[in-house]
Amino acid sequence: MLKKITIALSAVALAALAACGEGGSGGAAAGDDGTITIGFAQVGAESGWRTANTKSIQEAAEAAGIELKFSDAQQRQENQIRAIRSYVQQRVDVIAFSPVVETGWDTVLLEAKRANIPVILTDRAVDSDDTSLYETFLGSDFVEEGRKAGEWLVENATGPQKVVELQGTTGAAPAIDRKEGFEEVIASRPDIEIVASQTGDFTRSGGKQVMEAFLRSTPDIDVVYAHNDDMGLGAIEAIKAAGKVPGKDIKIITVDAVKAGMEALAAGEINFIVECNPLLGEQLMELAKKVVAGEEVPERVVTEETTFTQEEAKAALPDRQY
Ligand code: AHR
Repeated sequence: MLKKITIALSAVALAALAACGEGGSGGAAAGDDGTITIGFAQVGAESGWRTANTKSIQEAAEAAGIELKFSDAQQRQENQIRAIRSYVQQRVDVIAFSPVVETGWDTVLLEAKRANIPVILTDRAVDSDDTSLYETFLGSDFVEEGRKAGEWLVENATGPQKVVELQGTTGAAPAIDRKEGFEEVIASRPDIEIVASQTGDFTRSGGKQVMEAFLRSTPDIDVVYAHNDDMGLGAIEAIKAAGKVPGKDIKIITVDAVKAGMEALAAGEINFIVECNPLLGEQLMELAKKVVAGEEVPERVVTEETTFTQEEAKAALPDRQY
């Protein structure tokens, strides 16, 4: 279903709104010269995926002639909320953000709504009953990514499997959804069991640390399911340090398909990667332009993604952009 966007308010309408005491400072209309300003509140720089995502957004804004105000929340929700409030005060035309965690956004998004500043969710969703708080959500289907990881394991596991799971940031949509999708699929195989599961916060160091603990506490691990490449790469370091061979003694499944992950897959140290596409910049700029122009945008824009085996990674690597 399409949602009608009604944010191209005239200066007169904005003045009337302020006079009515509806709160907020207005916004939504592009500057006098037509330049659109986007305030983007990024999660942080926790992974190779995130670095590629930031670059894509910055480059796409420049190419589209859109002024980008950018903030890095260092994976803290309070920093993102502060950034969004500051974009409301600065009367940007559009606020876009990738929520660190799913819950706790209603108050600040209501402030943006009252100021007539449209919000676009990118990459990660919020868990709110009030879908009028944002115009659209552009990003991956994380549950489906988890399912693809589970399907590969179910198809390739010839006997019982002890799986350890490296979860993403606690409370983040990709951590919740990738777990759900994976568990849904492996439920068909009672001999595949998740024997330990802990967050590595989507970082390489987090993945390494948690894997070291798993290797000490859990005998005979068969499979690592890491919610992103970075944690999988950290797990590889821990497995090697424990005298085992990643990809052989312990199989590794990850999500993202950033270059470092794909190189490890091509080298046989990772066994399967589910792609999560970080190149959202161009689509975000297109959506922002439409929202400012008062055009209709879809409620949900799902990113197209694939999966990679070792041979497919070898073939894709020469052209990999990130
Ligand atoms: O939200 C997307 C996820 O966040 C990516 O899979 C991960 O690498 C990043 O940190």
